[in-house]
Amino acid sequence: MTAVGTYAIGITGASGAPYARTILSELLQTGHRVFAVMSHSGRKVLDVECGISLTGNTEADLDPMLEWIGSPNAGDRLTLLHHEDVAAPIASGSYPTNGMAVVPCSGGTLGRIANGISGGLIERAADVCLKERRRLVLVPRETPLSLIHLRNMTAAAEAGAVVLPASPGFYHSPRTVQDLVDTVAGRVLHHLGVESPLLRQWQGRQQTRKALSEA
Ligand SMILES: Cc1cc2nc3c(=O)[nH]c(=O)nc-3n(C[C@H](O)[C@H](O)[C@H](O)COP(=O)(O)O)c2cc1C
Repeated sequence: MTAVGTYAIGITGASGAPYARTILSELLQTGHRVFAVMSHSGRKVLDVECGISLTGNTEADLDPMLEWIGSPNAGDRLTLLHHEDVAAPIASGSYPTNGMAVVPCSGGTLGRIANGISGGLIERAADVCLKERRRLVLVPRETPLSLIHLRNMTAAAEAGAVVLPASPGFYHSPRTVQDLVDTVAGRVLHHLGVESPLLRQWQGRQQTRKALSEA
């Protein structure tokens, strides 16, 4: 089992709020401490995709957020931070964390991180991970990709980030949308250094045949 750690999760305005929900749930349920930051657009997409209307007031949003994550009793381990709060602990390299994921990561946030434009807390905390050589996982969701997106992904990878597109695999015979979400969430957790049952190892074709015969 992974030692208990501290992780930052940035949630931005790309499609894919359920990925963030699953990762937050897994981190909190396994006892990790989490700082979560949601961009203004991240809140909009959360409303569109999950019907959760947050206000941007981090104190007022904590309980609805915990409810959404499905961990109502994890309030002592989850801190919500405002996206403009660049004085938050995770904005400084002197504050130890085990890493950060930006999930989902919009093209805009990807571009700002890749180019060191740290105007808000999400970009600043990501910048801190890069300069401190900590784990940074970016989960972009866009299609098709422009040359600008591709160049920004290359720049982020060259600077040390893991670019992990939200592209679920179908070779584990998924039955539900949540199964697909889990394939991406499990990979993100793995790259954060967190062991999780969501990461299903490929055991060869035998496994697929078995799953299909049981379906
Ligand atoms: C419903 C909805 C879905 C969106 N999906 C995406 C997406 O998948 N990828 C993306 O890069 N931007 C997407 N956007 C646009 C971003 O939210 C927008 O560019 C925003 O400025 C990003 O801001 P942020 O990086 O501060 O979160 C979407 C917007 C909305 C309202």
